[in-house]
Amino acid sequence: MPELAAVNGRISPIDEAKISINDRGMVFGDGVYEVIASYRGRLFLFDEHLRRLRRSLDAIRMEYVEIEPIAEQMNYLFERAALPRAKVYLQITRGTAPRDHAFPVPTRGPNVIITVREVHEIDQAKLDRGVACITHRDIRWGRVDVKTTNLLPNCLAKQAALDRGCFDAIFVSGEGIVREATSANLFAAKNGGLWTHPTDERILGGITRAKLIELARPKGIEVREEKFDVDFLLGADEVFITGTTTEVLPIINVDGRPIGGGKPGPLARRMLALLTEWLLMNVDS
Ligand SMILES: Cc1ncc(COP(=O)(O)O)c(C=O)c1O
Repeated sequence: MPELAAVNGRISPIDEAKISINDRGMVFGDGVYEVIASYRGRLFLFDEHLRRLRRSLDAIRMEYVEIEPIAEQMNYLFERAALPRAKVYLQITRGTAPRDHAFPVPTRGPNVIITVREVHEIDQAKLDRGVACITHRDIRWGRVDVKTTNLLPNCLAKQAALDRGCFDAIFVSGEGIVREATSANLFAAKNGGLWTHPTDERILGGITRAKLIELARPKGIEVREEKFDVDFLLGADEVFITGTTTEVLPIINVDGRPIGGGKPGPLARRMLALLTEWLLMNVDS
């Protein structure tokens, strides 16, 4: 089956899907989104993604949007596309209205865009050998915990990394605090324990990050949700990034400096194994 789109319930091949030039998502980035991956025909951590969506909608004052019918549409499109390994993208914007910063009155309802596409898996070579990153000043707005479609700083940082032959950029605050990558959370390992930025307004609280912490702790792996700086990052035994499609990807070099001997380490491998094991157990149950 093809990759599919639904725009306000109207289903079509992705290339034929249309939205008004007055969509506030397009004009202002006035919207929120989610990306959910499937494994063996099931959408994973769906409820967790929907809970984060609720928080994002509330944070941008779109409390009136009802999630349940949207979740049903997502499931329907996912089943209709019948892709073995899919990612479902959902974008909800503040609707269509002539360009004006003020919210449209009366509200004509949101624009709801859903696409179902194939997941392009990260190269096995990247997983096996790890990837290099640059650090990049975090120039994003002050509420990156809200999953809005305003991703220009993320795009600029990602491209800066690619221009330097690296895979991704790691956002660092003006004070040198390490936050996250452009579309993934970041963990540093030191002496067998893991460090990751706490979930405040300065990072996106990743669903994968939360699941990994939940899986690590019962295994006796200490996880500290604490701020750390670039020196700590560069001195870490291991660094890896995590996300819905990234899963667990080792970082072996930052700004040209090798991390932990320049090779992926055992904790990144272990965390990926824990996640995969958990996914498979939940698929088969
Ligand atoms: C900035 C940022 N951080 C972290 C993540 C990882 O979140 P999740 O694990 O929910 O995919 C994403 C995913 O898109 C992201 O854009």
